[in-house]
Amino acid sequence: WGKTGHRATAEIAESYLTKKAKRNIRDLLNGRSLAFVANYADDIKSDPEFRQYGPWHYVNIDPEDEEYKPEEANPQGDLVQAIRKCISVLEDGGAAKEEKQFYLKMLVHFMGDLHQPFHAGRSEDKGGNDIKVKWFGDDSNIHRVWDSEMIDSFQMSYTELAENTKNISKEEMEKIKSGSLLDWVYESRDLAGELYASVDNEDNLGYECMYDRFPLVLEQLHKGGLRLAKVLNGLFG
Ligand code: ADE
Ligand code: ZN
Ligand code: ZN
Repeated sequence: WGKTGHRATAEIAESYLTKKAKRNIRDLLNGRSLAFVANYADDIKSDPEFRQYGPWHYVNIDPEDEEYKPEEANPQGDLVQAIRKCISVLEDGGAAKEEKQFYLKMLVHFMGDLHQPFHAGRSEDKGGNDIKVKWFGDDSNIHRVWDSEMIDSFQMSYTELAENTKNISKEEMEKIKSGSLLDWVYESRDLAGELYASVDNEDNLGYECMYDRFPLVLEQLHKGGLRLAKVLNGLFG
């Protein structure tokens, strides 16, 4: 996602934290909110010191592979390895506060990216980055349409986005929270598969795409927030 999508995911998660988790997390972040740190992992990308974390934002599972295979995974890291690393550092009683801060900020971001379907897209087109489309007449690509073009076109603040995803039943909420990290990856991969099938190179996208697809954008932001809260309540609650 872009900045607004990540902040919305973090804001939704914040609203589902237990009191204890909220307190522990605020302490670790020196009083800052989850939304405040949600884009840190993108903001450090241009610094050579942090270049190694570039591949951590996505995972590509090729269509002929049904499953995520650790032995075929990117040795530079991917979204699955990234989230596992963040959780393991945050579980480690011996880790220093600074290290925990870093991996918490990364985890908040990566749980968002996990729910942008094209962050679990195909390697051959770089998760849709190579599928060129027009967005209201301007050059874009299908990955960017999902990261930010649709959300930016609606011009909703991250708090409005967070509010707009709250009408959900308890049953549905429990269903969303169930499953493993890999189940969540496959869900995004399968969604990406459907979205690939509905777009062609050079498509002209605009208001129809916006209004057809935005409910799915909101659903993905909400899932990301709920699942991030579940992971954080497990670690800090
Ligand atoms: N961003 C850069 N490369 C990517 C890829 N292969 N998949 C998804 N997102 C990406
Ligand atoms: Zn992206
Ligand atoms: Zn990212």
